Amino acid sequence: MNATLAIYPGTFDPITNGHISVINRGLKIFDKLIISLLHNPQKVPLFSLEERIHMIRDVLRSLPNVEVDTFDGLLVDYAVRKNARVILRGLRALSDFEYEFQMALMNRKLNREVQSIFLMTDYKWFYTSSTIIKEAARFGGDITGLVPPMVAAKLREKFGHPKKNA
Ligand code: PNS
Repeated sequence: MNATLAIYPGTFDPITNGHISVINRGLKIFDKLIISLLHNPQKVPLFSLEERIHMIRDVLRSLPNVEVDTFDGLLVDYAVRKNARVILRGLRALSDFEYEFQMALMNRKLNREVQSIFLMTDYKWFYTSSTIIKEAARFGGDITGLVPPMVAAKLREKFGHPKKNA
């Protein structure tokens, strides 16, 4: 097992500046991160798996030591397959805590060799999420600064809102 490798799992529908902050800070702790998108046929995301991977690769292209991958089934089994023993998650406001705590405890029950590690999201992104950003974008709200410009453009395109001139 490689102690300096961490899995950063999620849905990333789409990737936000909050995720990127966790990735940048995770890279100060771990030598390598695998950003792993859950392939979940039960969930209907706004962006397809391919679109989400494309956006992540594009916005992280200058970062070395980051791999983008997909998984299905149990996260801990995937981590073992990847020879990783750390799962990295970002924690925002208190509202995240219960869900993350539940997930970490379940993952720990499933495999005690895989550790969950949390990084507090930078205060700037404390109250944002992919879901709330999508909601604002759907109705033409300005999401500048919350997602990378390329992702903002994709959201505008998805919801049919042309870019407003400043
Ligand atoms: O970005 P999200 O939607 O909060 O990510 C959730 C994710 C993908 C990390 C979580 O749903 C997951 O790990 N699913 C895989 C199944 C699993 O192992 N669940 C945890 C134990 S119940």
